[in-house]
Amino acid sequence: MTCDATRILDALQAAATTTRERDALAAAAVAAIRQTLPQATWVGVYWLQAGELVLGPYDGPATEHTRIPVGTGICGTAVAQDEDMLVDDVREVENYLACSATVRSEVVVLIRVGGRIVGQFDLDADDVGAFSLDDLCVLRAAADGFAGLIADGFAS
Ligand code: SME
Repeated sequence: MTCDATRILDALQAAATTTRERDALAAAAVAAIRQTLPQATWVGVYWLQAGELVLGPYDGPATEHTRIPVGTGICGTAVAQDEDMLVDDVREVENYLACSATVRSEVVVLIRVGGRIVGQFDLDADDVGAFSLDDLCVLRAAADGFAGLIADGFAS
C-alpha cells in the first residue's frame, strides 16, 4: 500500500524544532491529522500508563472517556490485541464506548517506541466507513514518525 503522510510528518518535524515535549508534539500531530483527514470529527491521543489509556491532547467534542482500561472499547481492544483497529460501523462493536451518539466509524493506530506500545491515535467520524485502508496507512506512517520524535521521553 502506498500512502502519503508527508504533510503530517513535515508538521511534526517543524514542531520538533521548537519542542520535544510529548504533549506539545502530540497536539501538533492531532492538528496535522485533522487537517489531512477532514472527515474526522474527533482526533486525539491516548497515552498508555499502568494498564490504562489516559487521554492526552485532542481536538473535537469533550469526551467522558478520559481513562480507558486495556481491553475495554475499541481503544483498549487495540492495545490488548496489539493491533490497529479500523471500524466501519461502531454499532457492530459490542464493547464500543460512545464518545458521541453521532459517531459511526473509528480508527485507532498504536504508537510504539522500541516495540513497546506507549499510546495511540484515535479518530472518530460521523459517516459509516469514513476511513479507508489508505487513511490507515497514512496514520500508521504518522504514528511511526511521531514515535521517533518522542522516543527520548520513553527511554528506559
Ligand atoms: N470510542 C472509543 C472511546 C474513545 S472516544 O471515541 C474518544 C472506544 O470504543 O474505545
